[in-house]
Amino acid sequence: MRLVLKNIAGLLVVEHDPDPWVAGTDMASVNTLSDAWLVIENGKIACFGEGEVIPFPDDELLDCGGGLVLPAFCDSHTHLVYAGSREQEYEDKIRGLSYEEIAKRGGGILNSARLLSLTPENELFEQSLPRVQEIIKSGTGAVEIKSGYGLNTIDELKMLRVIKRLKEETPLAIRSTFLGAHAVPAEFKSKQDKYVDLVIEEMIPAVAEEELADYIDVFCDRGFFTEEQTGRILEAGAKFGLLPKIHANELDFSGGVQVGVRNQARSVDHLEFVGVEELEALKGSLTMPTILPGASLFLGLKYAPAREIIEAGLPLALASDYNPGSSPSGNMELVMSLGIIQLKMLPYEVLNAVTRNGAYAMGLEDSHGTITPGKVANLIITDPMPRFGFMPYAYGSSQINKVILNGKIQ
Ligand code: NIG
Ligand code: FE
Repeated sequence: MRLVLKNIAGLLVVEHDPDPWVAGTDMASVNTLSDAWLVIENGKIACFGEGEVIPFPDDELLDCGGGLVLPAFCDSHTHLVYAGSREQEYEDKIRGLSYEEIAKRGGGILNSARLLSLTPENELFEQSLPRVQEIIKSGTGAVEIKSGYGLNTIDELKMLRVIKRLKEETPLAIRSTFLGAHAVPAEFKSKQDKYVDLVIEEMIPAVAEEELADYIDVFCDRGFFTEEQTGRILEAGAKFGLLPKIHANELDFSGGVQVGVRNQARSVDHLEFVGVEELEALKGSLTMPTILPGASLFLGLKYAPAREIIEAGLPLALASDYNPGSSPSGNMELVMSLGIIQLKMLPYEVLNAVTRNGAYAMGLEDSHGTITPGKVANLIITDPMPRFGFMPYAYGSSQINKVILNGKIQ
């Protein structure tokens, strides 16, 4: 049976033959149909148009009430599988400790790793499932989820198996990333290279053996992993078919962007510290620069230079970074608001960044991110509003009326 959406004031990000991403000045436009309808068949977008729709007799009709319809969000960077929470550390931060100081005292990622090692796999799944349900309600239709709170082979595999189960048991499109090099465990403190060897020699082959990851990530930054170590890990991952998607330049000019581009990373993420050299490295590459403004908000870091990136003619994606330490929220409407408020992006630049460019950043551009015949019917129906720009402007109050994933109302 077909599901026919009618009474759509504006159908946004309509593309019949989309390019893999949108970049530079093109980011400020979005193809739109007004007074539109859309037909869903077998979970896919079948066709759409303007004006009156003439349904078949047994079509199911859904009146969109004059709201907008857009592609569901594509959140290309999260760590939403984790155990417990870290609000206590946030109090330490309020009292004056920095993110790096908290990490050095065994807090931060190591704190989450300790909690995770004490949590059985089933319990980890039960803790993570409500986060998936929550982001579905808030409009996310495709998401990337990382490991990285295991930091030993057994617990990294445990996290990746939970991600696999979320893939199998929820309607979200999920890409999975192995992030063994997220932090150096305490027992490797003065022998960091030995930990890198462990990632390369033991963890990567084990992850590949069970086919648990699509991508490989490294936290390439001051106090975490060097450019050289990152290069070694990415090259080792490539031998097992793991494509890079890395954390780069959050805390300093880390060389992360350059090593990512050299290794043909799908994306380089964070980018608070980006200058001319980083922009030059990205030009002509196939790597999607990705900004996570929730982490800047929550940690009080400076915001990444979105305008410079776009004005350099590059594409840009925005993602939530949903994780217990630097951004405990997967709310992409909030990410869009931060895009216009803090990153000085225009509303349509933001919309492209959280839909089609986010889809590219996790390798889902052929199936998600635009309203295109044949793509998966992952859609957001909004409340009626004067224009799309109202959605990020009305920060903190959701404008989402319904979410459709794989053609089904959630
Ligand atoms: O993307 N920067 C590294 N990793 C995460 C933070 C993880 C944590 O603090 O638990 C991030 O911000
Ligand atoms: Fe992250």
